[in-house]
Amino acid sequence: MKFVQLGDRRVPAVAVGCMGLAALGEKECDAFVSAALEHGLNFFDHADIYGGGACESAFGASIARLGVAREKIVLQSKCGIVPGVMFDFSEKHILEAVDGSLRRLRTDYLDVLLLHRPDALAEPAEVAAAFDKLEKEGKVRSFGVSNMHPCQIEVLKTCVKQPLIADQLQFSPAHAGMISCGFEVNMCTDAGISHDGYILDYCRLHGMAVQAWSPFRYGFFEGVFLDNEKFAGLNAVLEAVGEAHGIGKAAAVAAWILRHPAKMQVVTGTVKPAHLLDIAAGADACLTREEWYKIYMAAGHILP
Ligand SMILES: NC(=O)c1ccc[n+]([C@@H]2O[C@H](COP(=O)([O-])OP(=O)(O)OC[C@H]3O[C@@H](n4cnc5c(N)ncnc54)[C@H](OP(=O)(O)O)[C@@H]3O)[C@@H](O)[C@H]2O)c1
Repeated sequence: MKFVQLGDRRVPAVAVGCMGLAALGEKECDAFVSAALEHGLNFFDHADIYGGGACESAFGASIARLGVAREKIVLQSKCGIVPGVMFDFSEKHILEAVDGSLRRLRTDYLDVLLLHRPDALAEPAEVAAAFDKLEKEGKVRSFGVSNMHPCQIEVLKTCVKQPLIADQLQFSPAHAGMISCGFEVNMCTDAGISHDGYILDYCRLHGMAVQAWSPFRYGFFEGVFLDNEKFAGLNAVLEAVGEAHGIGKAAAVAAWILRHPAKMQVVTGTVKPAHLLDIAAGADACLTREEWYKIYMAAGHILP
């Protein structure tokens, strides 16, 4: 299993996203978590809103039933999206959200807390006060963000003193704007416009890990491109590249993401052990430049 640097930890390059756990029964959930752990996938990505809290609860219950020692797993959760309000980075909300996650996950600390989506009304001083309290009380060990561009991170850093170790961002061959704008520099093309303030380069400059969410989706939850006839060309290339490395198509996608020198983490969404293990196999494959570019172009992107 390939590892990547996340702050001062080495973590598996494949992170197990837990957004779909609430759909599983107890036995299925235990089997999924066990399969992940047996294969060294011990980094779990949560959020307080997944399943309205039910995903964290299902995971916490599984870990308790399976008797997994807390230090054997790395737990990340996110806060800041509030159904009915929208976004809330107030000190009070962050503190309450973390207490809720800890309770549902049946633990007394999170390894990583991410701010889920930017809150336009955020006061950096309030975020900093929350982070200081959480750190002092031992409830959160490291902090990061999600779906933020460089300036938003810099604004937070005017007050937040802890290192921000990760930005979790949507990224896949079919959602590769972070890469495309770097190719189409100074061209009058839509993809030449940066929609993210050059966050990929910013993360590399500042030693932040990029965690790629929805590695198999296109658009904003529009659909999955694997086995999708709309992406027939991409599927054919993924199949051929996968075959060359003795892995499946989903694993070839993971290998494509992990081939990037930013040393990203792939955050998977499957809740099927077989799919998860298939994807994990991709972490060990190293694509050639030719394979990497072929996948990029087969997803419909141009190169100058
Ligand atoms: N920070 C954010 O704003 C944000 C937003 C969304 C998600 N996330 C995180 O990212 C994780 C992944 O998100 P996602 O569920 O949208 O992404 P994904 O990994 O791209 O999953 C999309 C779907 O692909 C399906 N799939 C079909 N064939 C597959 C195959 N052969 N192998 C693997 N998967 C296959 C999976 O279904 P099956 O279950 O049938 O395998 C899964 O439901 C979430 O769990 C969450 O932790 C973060």
